[in-house]
Amino acid sequence: MDRVTINQHVSFSKMIQGFWRAHSWEWSPQQLNKYLHELVDRGITTMDHADIYGDYSCEGIFGEALKLSPELRDKIEIVSKCGIVLPSDKLTWTNGHRYDHSQQHIEQSVNRSLSELNVDYLDSLLIHRPSPLMDPNEITEALKNLVTAGKVKSFGVSNFNKSQYDLLNNHLVCDKLHITLNQLELSPYTLDAFEDGTINHMYKDDVKIMAWSPLAGGKLFSADDAKAQRIMTTIESLAQKYQVTTSGIIMAWLNKHPSQVMPVLGTHQINRVDDALVGMNIKLTDQEWFDIYTASLGHDIP
Ligand SMILES: NC(=O)c1ccc[n+]([C@@H]2O[C@H](COP(=O)([O-])OP(=O)(O)OC[C@H]3O[C@@H](n4cnc5c(N)ncnc54)[C@H](OP(=O)(O)O)[C@@H]3O)[C@@H](O)[C@H]2O)c1
Repeated sequence: MDRVTINQHVSFSKMIQGFWRAHSWEWSPQQLNKYLHELVDRGITTMDHADIYGDYSCEGIFGEALKLSPELRDKIEIVSKCGIVLPSDKLTWTNGHRYDHSQQHIEQSVNRSLSELNVDYLDSLLIHRPSPLMDPNEITEALKNLVTAGKVKSFGVSNFNKSQYDLLNNHLVCDKLHITLNQLELSPYTLDAFEDGTINHMYKDDVKIMAWSPLAGGKLFSADDAKAQRIMTTIESLAQKYQVTTSGIIMAWLNKHPSQVMPVLGTHQINRVDDALVGMNIKLTDQEWFDIYTASLGHDIP
């Protein structure tokens, strides 16, 4: 498994496992622990979380599984996110739906994540979504405290466009911090980050891309979605040519981009992880890459 350097302290596996859906798997800590070992055995060592996943429950589910094999902590990288507040009766501060990028909320959220995950530090902390009220000074102060306390080893954002990234990063670099990651929705179904220049802008600054919902959350396999059908017709013929599954071709498509895109898988079926992994060794031609791209656009490129 290739590795991607995030900063001088942190590197990620090229393929990442996401835990957004972990509450719906209804696994015992033993079952999740077994899955973690299967992932690590395959070189998938980076685990993606957020405070809010599963009504604030997924980090705790993961933490219980990790407790069964404490030695795993040194073999994996844990990413978590903060900044979204969702209504929940679990916590006192979750009394509405809003974004909160205040210093107090960021630090409070990270402390809770560490406790739920049963770890001392996050390999990376991401601001989950940009906010119209975002004050880069507050985020910088929170981050400085978290880095100084050894609780966060690298820092990134998610769903940030170019100007939102610039606003925050220009403040951070004054304090010798900087954004190393942008986690974006990216798949053959969702091309926005290519079309609006976000990916180019990140590449210019050596900000690594994590692609969330690389299979469009399973929508690509939906029989009653015309756009998905159009894309999958092209992907299926390539799957036949290369003798792999369609998800393998999708991974090969993401992997072809020069900016070292890291897909964040959402499956909990290890055979599907294996299908995706095979695709990382497939080298699509430029024409094949564009055939998928234009199938998604629904028209030819100019
Ligand atoms: N930053 C953000 O705003 C944001 C937003 C959403 C997600 N994320 C992150 O991205 C991760 C992945 O998102 P996602 O779950 O939507 O990813 P995905 O890999 O695009 O979709 C996974 C879903 O597709 C299903 N699926 C159906 N057919 C499949 C096949 N042939 N191969 C693999 N999966 C298939 C899976 O079910 P099975 O489990 O049964 O295989 C699962 O429910 C999340 O866990 C989270 O960490 C981030």
